[in-house]
Amino acid sequence: MKRPYVYLAGVGRWAPPRILRNDEFASMGLDTNDAWIVQRTGIRERHIAGPAENNRTMSAAASRMAMERAGVHPGEIDLIVLGTASPDHLLPSTAVELQAELGASRAAAFDICAACSSWLYGLIVAEGLMMSGSAETALVVGTEKLSSIVDWKDRSTAVLFGDGAGAAILRRSKHGKGILSTYFRSDGTLAPLLHRRAGGAAQPFDEHALHDRSFYIEMEGREVFKHAVRSMSDACDRALDGARMTGADIDLLIPHQANVRIIEATAKHAGIPMEKVFVNVDRYGNTSSASVPMALEEAMAAGRVTDGSTVLLVAFGAGFTWASLVIRF
Ligand code: ACO
Repeated sequence: MKRPYVYLAGVGRWAPPRILRNDEFASMGLDTNDAWIVQRTGIRERHIAGPAENNRTMSAAASRMAMERAGVHPGEIDLIVLGTASPDHLLPSTAVELQAELGASRAAAFDICAACSSWLYGLIVAEGLMMSGSAETALVVGTEKLSSIVDWKDRSTAVLFGDGAGAAILRRSKHGKGILSTYFRSDGTLAPLLHRRAGGAAQPFDEHALHDRSFYIEMEGREVFKHAVRSMSDACDRALDGARMTGADIDLLIPHQANVRIIEATAKHAGIPMEKVFVNVDRYGNTSSASVPMALEEAMAAGRVTDGSTVLLVAFGAGFTWASLVIRF
């Protein structure tokens, strides 16, 4: 176990007020129902951004909450790392748009694209930059407006995703609190299982992409499910090994919220009972990069993460990517 160098000084969350319930999909022309969605995924509803809401506005709201809780002003932030799979623009990064919105004029800002693992990747990158002396105070954000890249005519994906943002301020550790171990990996050979074929430089957006709907998220659900359980289990093992701990040492597991069956399989593998697992996928669906920080903020607000709690964070995403951290609060 390493001596913690970086800790989470404040965590924030924001979700758009509009809630889309499972029983509303039928009126949108989708052949699905609440019972199927709840049984296969555990999802009951998700938050959907309105036309005036985007990643800049959502991530700014979550960041301001994290900054207020950490007692940090925009001018003190020297690093902004923002994870998103649904950036507001393809150029420039959403991170610089957040920087301008916050007035964090001293910061270096950039995006990370590791899909649902992005926020955990962001924590690991920010920790490394802080340990090397390149940054003192970092803002790490996960934000998604997935409703803008979901195919609302495809029942196999439309029911899964939601919008929202989460953020944390990272500062130098004191009193032995902070990040105890980290682990991250990728496997690009699995990219075709979950991707958007068109819209980038390889296949620029055009009329064809509009007609064949290749501009939207496409997913091989069953295959993704299998790899998700495998990679999340691997990530739990590695972060626990790195911290010289077992599942019995963990007070709370906060996994990426994609599907309650994936969460249950991961917890079982890690030897962590479901009473020690935080689940909010029923109310938010899969918010990709925003999922773990939003769950962490809710867990803290509910008193499930308190002074001295040892927490295991774990995520997987398109790529494939997967990552985990053990953190002492
Ligand atoms: N409502 C009703 N029926 C549906 C729906 C729906 N919304 N979606 C699919 N079905 C049907 C299918 O058409 C299929 O019908 P068929 O047997 O007649 O062909 C049947 O249900 C079973 O489909 P499967 O895909 O085999 O169902 P499965 O039990 O695997 O559940 C699910 C599908 C929920 C998508 C699951 O595979 C899953 O959760 N996979 C992982 C997805 C995931 O986590 N993605 C996020 C990755 S992270 C990131 O970076 C974005």
